[in-house]
Order: sequence, then C-alpha cells, then structure tokens
Amino acid sequence: MGKPMEELIDKSHVPQHIAVIMDGNGRWAKKRGMNRVFGHRNAIQAVREISEGSGELGVKYLTLYAFSTENWSRPVSEVEALMELLVNAIRDELPTLMKNNVKLFSIGDISGLPSSTQNQLAQAIETTKNNTGLNLIIALSYSGKWDIVEATKKIAEQVKQGKIHTEDIDEQLFAKYLSTNYAPDVDLMIRTGGDHRISNFMLWQLAYAELYIMEDVFWPDFRKKHLFEAILDYQRRERRFGKTSEQLQKVTTNEV
Ligand code: IPE
Ligand code: IPE
Ligand code: MG
Repeated sequence: MGKPMEELIDKSHVPQHIAVIMDGNGRWAKKRGMNRVFGHRNAIQAVREISEGSGELGVKYLTLYAFSTENWSRPVSEVEALMELLVNAIRDELPTLMKNNVKLFSIGDISGLPSSTQNQLAQAIETTKNNTGLNLIIALSYSGKWDIVEATKKIAEQVKQGKIHTEDIDEQLFAKYLSTNYAPDVDLMIRTGGDHRISNFMLWQLAYAELYIMEDVFWPDFRKKHLFEAILDYQRRERRFGKTSEQLQKVTTNEV
C-alpha cells in the first residue's frame, strides 16, 4: 500500500482560498429514483467533509456556493425546501463549527432569504466570530455580477460624497468593496457534477483560480479524499500569471 493521499500533500503550499460549486444534488437523487430535495438533504455530509478536510490541511478560506441568484427561479417547493434545510443545517452544525474552530461568514443578498434563515445565520456568524481556524464563507443568494454591481454602487456613492476620486479607483480599491474584501482571491475552484462553467460564481475573485472539474462525482458523494485529490492536482500545476515558464524557473532558483 502507498502512502495515504493526505501525506503526499505539501502542507507549505496548500491553496489559501478554495471555492466550490457544489453541483449535482438533483442528478444524484434522480439516479436513486428519489426527488431533488433528497439530494439536497444528502449534501450536508459532503459539506462537513470538505470543511473538516480544509481545516486539517490549514486552508484559510473555503467558499461554498450554496444558492445562487439564479436558483430563485427554481420551483417554489424546491426553493422552500432548500431554505428550510439551510436553517436546520446551520443550527445543527454550529457545535461542530465551534469544536473545529471555524469562523463562519456569508456573502450574497441575504435580505431576500426567509427571516428564520437570516436569523439563524446571523446567530451562527456571531457565535463563531472569535474562532481562528478555517474561515468558512457560505454564498447564499449570491452571484458574481451582483457582487460587482454592489461594489460599484458603494464606490459611486463614495465618489459622490467626495471621499474617493475617480483617479484613485484601481483593482485594489475595487476589491475592498467586494463582499469578500477580507479574503484573498481564489486559488482553486472545484466544481462537482461535470459541468464546465462558472454559473455566475465569484467572477472577480476567480480571475486566476485553477479550475478543477470533477466529471464523475455528484456533490453528495464528495468526501475528504476528493479534496486531497484536488489539492494534489493543484500542487502539480504551474501557475504562471501571464509570465513564461522560464521566468518562473529562474525565480525559484534565485537567478532572476
Ligand atoms: C446543486 O445541485 C445545489 C444547488 C444548486 C442548490 P443541483 O440542485 O443543481 O443538482 P443538479 O445539477 O440539478 O443535478
Ligand atoms: C450553481 O449550480 C449554483 C450552486 C451550486 C449553488 P446550478 O446547478 O444552479 O448551475 P447551472 O444552472 O447548472 O449553471
Ligand atoms: Mg446543478
């Protein structure tokens, strides 16, 4: 038997920020002759696994796409079931979040969520606020375009009030007005369910993320070993950020 996969991971080079499009719950359920909500219900274990695995490896930020702006267009019964699942999950997982030292955040237009979901979320965020381990960001009623428009509105207001000059607007300033202003850009984006698209997730923050699409795994089947596989794959990649491979080699051997 070889080494357990976790041991092959270079702990000094784990992605700082992982973002996940947790997709395929409906198809997972359909395969079992069940309704879509059954798939959503069985997604919680996967959330536990990825949060624990990320915490163990020292990943600093994990963003999970739980509900998109576009998901509001699903059948009302599915949306309602998802909202109820969310409240229950946040409530039930709180002791585990505390035990694992996880600090919870949310991004998205939560004003549109049922008040019970909003309250439960606010309470969990407050309870975990002094935790110092993994920062777990739940994207709820979120879309990348929404995030950028909100940032633009805030900046425009500041310009109107004379607090920012148009010439001062650059990428760094803009990023400060995004909902993720406390987190670095995403290093690794994982999508389960095999679709090769961003689905209006973090458009700005994903600018240079490495994309890892899982062709054969639906979200409810996601386990720690899949996270480890994704990170190992990430560690084998060369992130060039527009430079040439030769330039990067020189930097690592200090011959700049
Ligand atoms: C992802 O699974 C969960 C949410 C979008 C809330 P889906 O519900 O999109 O499942 P599929 O993609 O239809 O299989
Ligand atoms: C993306 O999945 C949103 C979430 C996982 C929350 P969707 O299933 O909604 O994406 P599309 O519609 O297939 O692009
Ligand atoms: Mg889907």
